Amino acid sequence: MTIRLGDIAPDFTAETTEGPIRFHEWKGTGWAVLFSHPKDFTPVCTTELGHVARIKGEFDRRGCKVIGLSVDPLGSHREWSRDIAETQGIAPNFPMIADPDRKVAGLYDMIHPNASDTMTVRTVFVVGPDQKVKLTITYPASTGRNFDEILRVIDSLQLTAKHAVATPVNWRDGDDVIVAPALSDDDAKARFPKGFRKLKPYLRVTPQPNR
Ligand code: BEZ
Repeated sequence: MTIRLGDIAPDFTAETTEGPIRFHEWKGTGWAVLFSHPKDFTPVCTTELGHVARIKGEFDRRGCKVIGLSVDPLGSHREWSRDIAETQGIAPNFPMIADPDRKVAGLYDMIHPNASDTMTVRTVFVVGPDQKVKLTITYPASTGRNFDEILRVIDSLQLTAKHAVATPVNWRDGDDVIVAPALSDDDAKARFPKGFRKLKPYLRVTPQPNR
C-alpha cells in the first residue's frame, strides 16, 4: 500500500521489544517517527539505532515518540540490542517492532522488491497528532540516515502547524521564516508584530514567530 502525505497512518498491532502495542494507541495524541531498518545484525543499522538512542532526548523534547521496525523476530532484536549496547555505548531505549510476517512492512510499503525481496528499505514516517502522515523519506540500505535532518523537519512541521509560515531552504530552528503566501499583507502585519521584509509580493520574510 502506498502511503502519501496527509493519509491516515495505518493502525496495526505488533510485538515490540517493549511489549505488544496498537500503534495509534501507543502513539497517542503526540508526534511519532516510525522507521524501518533492513535487517538485524547489520553494520549501518547498528550505528543508526545507537545514534537514535543517544539523541532520544531530542525527540522527547519535541513530544515525539520513536519506534523502529525490521522483519526479524523479537528474540533477534533482543540479542542484537546487546551488540548495539556493546559497540555503540547505548542500547535502544525505544521499542523495536518485530515484523516476521511482514504485516506492518506491507501496510507501509517498506519492502521495495526491485531493491530487495526480503529486506525493508530505510523508510521514515513522521506521524502528527491527528494520526496523519506528515513526512515520508526512503533511503537505500547502503546509506545511513541523517537524524539531524529528521529533527529539523519535525521542528518545521511543528512550527508550520501552529503559525501561518513556511520554512526556507536549509532552515534551522531560530532562523527567519517565510510568511504563508495565502496571507494578505494586512493579515501578515496583524499576525507578525515583529513585521516582515517584502522581497517580492510572494516572498516575505519574518522572524520565527514563537521566539
Ligand atoms: C547495514 O545496515 O549495514 C546494511 C543492511 C542491509 C544491506 C546493506 C547494509
